[in-house]
Amino acid sequence: METIHKVYFRDSSEMCELESDSVNLMVTSPPYPMIEMWDSLFSSLNVEIKEALEAVDGKTAFNLMHEELNKVWNEVSRVLKPSGIACVNIGDATRRIGKNFQLFPNHVKISNFFLNNDFIELPCILWRKPTNSPNKFLGSGMLPPNAYVTLEHEYILIFRKGDFKRELIPKSENRYNSAFFWEERNKWFSDVWEDIKGTSQNLNKSNNNKKKLRERSAAFPLELPYRLINMFSIYEDIVLDPFWGTGTTSLAAMISTRNSIGYEINSEFMEIFKRNLRKLKQLNNDINYIRMSKHLEFIRRYKNGVKDVKYNAIHYKFPVITKQEIDILLYSIKSYSENRNKFILNHEKFKYD
Ligand SMILES: C[S@@+](CC[C@H](N)C(=O)[O-])C[C@H]1O[C@@H](n2cnc3c(N)ncnc32)[C@H](O)[C@@H]1O
Repeated sequence: METIHKVYFRDSSEMCELESDSVNLMVTSPPYPMIEMWDSLFSSLNVEIKEALEAVDGKTAFNLMHEELNKVWNEVSRVLKPSGIACVNIGDATRRIGKNFQLFPNHVKISNFFLNNDFIELPCILWRKPTNSPNKFLGSGMLPPNAYVTLEHEYILIFRKGDFKRELIPKSENRYNSAFFWEERNKWFSDVWEDIKGTSQNLNKSNNNKKKLRERSAAFPLELPYRLINMFSIYEDIVLDPFWGTGTTSLAAMISTRNSIGYEINSEFMEIFKRNLRKLKQLNNDINYIRMSKHLEFIRRYKNGVKDVKYNAIHYKFPVITKQEIDILLYSIKSYSENRNKFILNHEKFKYD
């Protein structure tokens, strides 16, 4: 099987390379409005944002920053296929503006945009990432009433473009091969994820050192897009990330045997992507191996609980809990080539011995 991965280093508010209704899934994490590390980026997009921040007018700055993001969401709405899924990883911002410490609820603004633009909102995931920062308790310390709750979660908002249409569900073999294990379903589709550690978007506000490039990118952990891609798309689908950063979504698409497209305004990040790509073949095998081993361990415990397991996976000759899992098939990366920000990967069936 072959997959193709393209990156365009330009603003995703105009994705003119992409046809309307052509993308199966979007997985992304935008710059978070009102988080200081993104002030200069938003200010460069609209001088009124800079002026509002200087005038300590948080509400205006917040609204204008979301207007910038909305231009990209509009394009996403155009290029996504009917019934396609959009997943947005977003955190709210807390900030002192003038005399007030306050919350800027980014997830509310983004939900509002999608709901007002022909999307249906599906139950979201709270991604909990506890912080060990010594300054995590803000406000009046141990004295009421002016202490503030610490934000230790982000959202993964999930939307569907238009109505659910049964006739649009693919009937191909790919869909059945793309199944995940029953116990993975129970974990991945839980509304709170506590097992994925992240990096804070507050990091390295003023650090221009090249070594800190990764931190400046505010990359999300690979596990996050990997899960979402496996939950909401099938083999050979096209996954879009309009805020590509270091290309974590493309890496996750590669190890999930999906195609991918990324848009990014900062071409510096390609260096990190290529570095990660060199390690991807091994990582792909490790992840497959861990998934299979964990499954077998799960089945062993399940059987020890004197429960019967009726089905067998055709490609791997081991038990699975449900009929839907019998065609499950994982792929490994066999080889890859690159030509001008376009990567072509060959995948082969993963053998589990
Ligand atoms: C939170 S980071 C994404 C990090 C990414 N998920 C990763 O794992 O590396 C947001 C990225 O969006 C990029 N960006 C912001 N506005 C953009 C736009 N209009 N078009 C394309 N890229 C944009 C920024 O340069 C930044 O790299």
